[in-house]
Amino acid sequence: MSNQPIFALNQVKKVYDGRTVLNLAELTVHRGEILALVGPSGAGKSTLLRLLNFLEPASRGTVRFDGEMVTADLDLAQRRRVTTVFQRPLLLQRSVRANLRYGPGLRGQKLPPAVEDEWLERLGLMPLADQAAPKLSAGEAQRVALARALVTQPDVLLLDEPTANLDPSNVRIIESIIEAENQRSGMTVVLVTHNIFQARRIAHRTALLWAGELIEVAETEQFFNRPVREETAAFVRGDTVY
Ligand SMILES: Nc1ncnc2c1ncn2[C@@H]1O[C@H](COP(=O)(O)OP(=O)(O)OP(=O)(O)O)[C@@H](O)[C@H]1O
Ligand SMILES: [Mg+2]
Repeated sequence: MSNQPIFALNQVKKVYDGRTVLNLAELTVHRGEILALVGPSGAGKSTLLRLLNFLEPASRGTVRFDGEMVTADLDLAQRRRVTTVFQRPLLLQRSVRANLRYGPGLRGQKLPPAVEDEWLERLGLMPLADQAAPKLSAGEAQRVALARALVTQPDVLLLDEPTANLDPSNVRIIESIIEAENQRSGMTVVLVTHNIFQARRIAHRTALLWAGELIEVAETEQFFNRPVREETAAFVRGDTVY
């Protein structure tokens, strides 16, 4: 593996209908880190994730993925190194097992049964393995979405509020799997969260986005305890007016 950052953004703007919703002079995602993105509603967090998973192009500037300029021509093999779990995942209306097999199937691979069972076990899904996805609770569905993403062993996992509206035990399961996979395989994680405690618990670095701009990005400990910018201090204190 090279030492270059997994993502490097330079002078990136995203403009919708003449309105600039993202304006980043520079942002680097380090290989193997867990980076949390926090910020008020409408700050541009999900928009940034859509640039990182190649769903949308930047209006201006450059996005590099593992040293390679991201363009419409980026290889499918490169694109598949990045996987996203959304807040309300769309699961196949089939069994939990069928959902886990979906990603490998797209890649022309068969998920080995032992690996499939291991993921079902790890996410506490074994008793639900044959249940139809539409009948799952929100927490169960989110665990299936995470398992479905992880069985493909992505180099980068993008998470958009993966634990919003989940109870503490589901939050704990999901956080611990994210941390374990990050440590085991060096998978890079970019985590959008409204839960600043979650950022504090699992992120190596935390970034504050505000009205499309990157206000501060720092080691998580510093971000929360010794922020440089007044906006960060206010956000961490919960004084932000949304
Ligand atoms: N497809 C689109 N067309 C027009 N405007 C958009 C589009 N997608 C996002 N926006 C606008 O871009 C801004 C940033 O939206 P985004 O969804 O990235 O915010 P966010 O930080 O994820 O907010 P939240 O915390 O509420 O999810 C918002 O003002 C939104 O209205
Ligand atoms: Mg969002």
